[in-house]
Amino acid sequence: MPSEDTKILLRESELPQRWYNINPDLPAPLAPPIHPGTGKPIGPEDLAPIFPMELIKQEVSMDPWIEIPDDILRIYKLWRPTPLQRALRLEKHLGTPARIYYKNESISPPGSHKPNTAVAQAYYNKMEGVTRIATETGAGQWGSALAFACCLFDIECMVYMVKVSYEQKPYRRVLMETWGAKCIPSPTDATNAGRQILEKDPNSPGSLGIAISEAVEDAATHEGTKYSLGSVLNHVLLHQTIVGLEAKAQLKLAGEEADAVIGCVGGGSNFAGCAFPFVKDKLSGKNIDIIAVEPKSCPTLTAGQFRYDFGDTAQLTPLLKMYTLGHTFVPEPIHAGGLRYHGMAPLISLLVDQKVIEPRAYHQLSTFEAALTWARTEGIVPAPETAHALRATIDEALKCKETGEEKCLLVNFSGHGFFDLSAYERYLGGQLEDHEYSKEAVAAALKGLPQVAEPG
Ligand SMILES: Cc1ncc(COP(=O)(O)O)c(C=O)c1O
Repeated sequence: MPSEDTKILLRESELPQRWYNINPDLPAPLAPPIHPGTGKPIGPEDLAPIFPMELIKQEVSMDPWIEIPDDILRIYKLWRPTPLQRALRLEKHLGTPARIYYKNESISPPGSHKPNTAVAQAYYNKMEGVTRIATETGAGQWGSALAFACCLFDIECMVYMVKVSYEQKPYRRVLMETWGAKCIPSPTDATNAGRQILEKDPNSPGSLGIAISEAVEDAATHEGTKYSLGSVLNHVLLHQTIVGLEAKAQLKLAGEEADAVIGCVGGGSNFAGCAFPFVKDKLSGKNIDIIAVEPKSCPTLTAGQFRYDFGDTAQLTPLLKMYTLGHTFVPEPIHAGGLRYHGMAPLISLLVDQKVIEPRAYHQLSTFEAALTWARTEGIVPAPETAHALRATIDEALKCKETGEEKCLLVNFSGHGFFDLSAYERYLGGQLEDHEYSKEAVAAALKGLPQVAEPG
């Protein structure tokens, strides 16, 4: 019998000691990153100027399990293991026979799942003598997570924050500054990449693709500085698997097995972190729905193409084979800033292409409606990104109401929305609208994709 507990807790001594690397279990080989100049797969030496070697090794590792260093585990214990919670009030409100569990990643100091990798990345940089890290941030969750992690390891932190989010969420900047980081709105005039964008469009709202270009350029042109990415790359998704590993142990304690695992996807890190340990079971024959939820105004998985593309706008990164809307596509300024990215993690892209993961897209207003239902039943105000996952969870639970199926649904509650209240204010005031993405803009951006001979 499943338990009726609201919180399923692990002890600190039960914190997973290893991350799960899905790479060796994939149903097809992952296409390698390509050097845009040579058209050949990149080697570790190509990445060494911007990443520490230990992270480069994790990026290509075929070991299924990777030990978590003690120094990282000690910091994780500031907020981990996070609770797995049963959304009993939401279930009752919906009148669903489904049992809804959520992994509450909002309780970390910066308020999201992002420090799971920020702490790991700051640690490996520190071990290799790095004194300064540059990064980009969309909604500011990643920037504040890295600011927090750099603060703990005494590393300088420079954050390029997408301008539209910088204006929508001013207190995220203050949070980053509180942890000692510097945060400026992107595009800036401090980098070539930023200046080029501003020349073409002085009012550019910015995008994650542009901010990545600025941060990569910063790292490449400053002594002692490396670059850090908060999503997309294999090592980032790897660090996030602590979420799913804990959730699996907690579901077992509750006497449950997940029928569906649901998460929102920007670059894919929180979703992958929660879902990959369950994807492992699905690949061994278990019947589990794995659902990735994105915004309709930036529909990378549902309207993009599975092709090689740049990770950034200025074409500074290696080419990754991923679902993409084209690296020049600038999404509408929706409030889920962390979901406004033209690409998707190659690991998730491959699993969507192989039909292991099901992608879904929702408009902004329906996600805020779900966020309000959640806040008024479960209490926590979700981040607008998280609200996408909650929309799909509520829809799945309502489907169970129709069919009578008593499914066990697991959703990753990736972050709280306490710094997103201006978005809630606009929603409550009836000022928020849905943004249809421009098919013409996507078609134009896809036309600009590089032609790559796929390594065979
Ligand atoms: C709360 C929250 N959830 C989800 C995301 C999306 O990122 P990812 O797909 O890497 O988890 C973000 C990104 O900023 C976020 O802040």
